[in-house]
Amino acid sequence: HAGHEMGAMGQGAASLPEGEALRALPPLANEAGRPGLFKARLTAQSATARFVADRDTPILAYNGTSPGPLIEAFEGDRVEITFANRIGEQSTIHWHGMPVPADQDGNPMDPVAAGADRIYAFDLPEGSAGSYWYHPHPHGRTAEQVYRGLAGAFVVKAKADPVPAAYGDTVLMFTDLRLAADGSMPDSTMNDQMNGRVGDHVLVNGQKNPKLTVAMGAKRRLRLYNATNARFLRLVFANAVMTVIGSDGGLLEKPVATDEILLSPAERVELVVAFERPGAATLTTLDYDRGWMGPGRPADAGQTLLTVDVSDAPAEAMPPLPERLRSIARLAAPTVSRRLVFTETMAMNATGMEMGFLINGKAFDMGRVDIVAKAGEPELWEIVNQADMDHPFHLHGTQFQVVERERGGRVSKPPYLAWKDTVNVARGETVRLVMRQERPGSRMYHCHILEHEQLGMMGIVDVQ
Ligand code: C2O
Ligand code: CU
Repeated sequence: HAGHEMGAMGQGAASLPEGEALRALPPLANEAGRPGLFKARLTAQSATARFVADRDTPILAYNGTSPGPLIEAFEGDRVEITFANRIGEQSTIHWHGMPVPADQDGNPMDPVAAGADRIYAFDLPEGSAGSYWYHPHPHGRTAEQVYRGLAGAFVVKAKADPVPAAYGDTVLMFTDLRLAADGSMPDSTMNDQMNGRVGDHVLVNGQKNPKLTVAMGAKRRLRLYNATNARFLRLVFANAVMTVIGSDGGLLEKPVATDEILLSPAERVELVVAFERPGAATLTTLDYDRGWMGPGRPADAGQTLLTVDVSDAPAEAMPPLPERLRSIARLAAPTVSRRLVFTETMAMNATGMEMGFLINGKAFDMGRVDIVAKAGEPELWEIVNQADMDHPFHLHGTQFQVVERERGGRVSKPPYLAWKDTVNVARGETVRLVMRQERPGSRMYHCHILEHEQLGMMGIVDVQ
């Protein structure tokens, strides 16, 4: 893959061992000792990882692991997590996609000082089952802290789950790694700031191309998480059949067969994958042109993320997936509509070219409210990308429904109704979405290429 070797990527890249058995994410133990409460502690601290033999890589970790421990709780549960910040600078835990009150959201206005502890407490409402995640969100340091290892999965389970338990339930969290020859993770470059950091290796649960073994005819429920700072994952599964069953915010109404998935930074998808033929089934990346401002766009193509060994021995008969998974309420006709325009700017300063990433012509200002909204009121947001790169749009506080996309004068409807908290807005594209913020307080919206968020592509909606 010549393209992959070019540019900043690939030069001096260490090679990582592949083909080890896939490690499940370590579960975060519930210390509550009574049903209905999930209580635990997450300590962020420096740690080391062994990506290559004989070399320790300094990383940041929650409870010593990266990705962090898997949190599994049930809808209806109360959650109380004590966050101990031991990374030597301010941080937060943001509960990405989760319906938590504004003062428990871990946004940049509410930092946890170095060395301090704080308790995050919130309830998981009925109907909130879905694939969420957690990561730091401190002002100006989010990209760095996430890239060095601070991110974990938070799965809210349904009390009555229509997906057969025989499929299992496996989180695959994708992160992105660049290693210098000495085993360290190099500092970001100017190009990284513009494009977002894209590493040389996509890891799954911290491993490069791990192996999963299944019997022929098996079906697996897989939750795919794009926890990279900036990499677009366009995925195909050779020798397997993919069915989409869920999005960022839980199950779809019905299963949808698919050949290919585009997962932009921070998006999640739930799949049922059927392995019908013996041999190797591989989850690999295809190239995706997300636009690029500097020399050498990273070629994403041709990485194998996961290899599934499908044995000749037939699996026990798998129960079928129900034709109907749940119903999703259509939001009432929006009474308010807003337009958010994403642009990039370039300016020369003393040290060279500097880029700005703006929404409606403004860079993020923590002291400024950009939008005032009313709790409970349905709104239409039109996200217009006039920039030269794709920007995945993310909103805090609630999930939304994409109603329409428009590009080059062509309007299209999404193929299915889904709850989302992150949606890619391709360059030149307009995405229209509807949502309703239920709880008062200040909420962030931003590009989830974390370097862009830091360079200004973020705003505040104050819900009253
Ligand atoms: Cu996943 Cu405001 O972030
Ligand atoms: Cu962006």
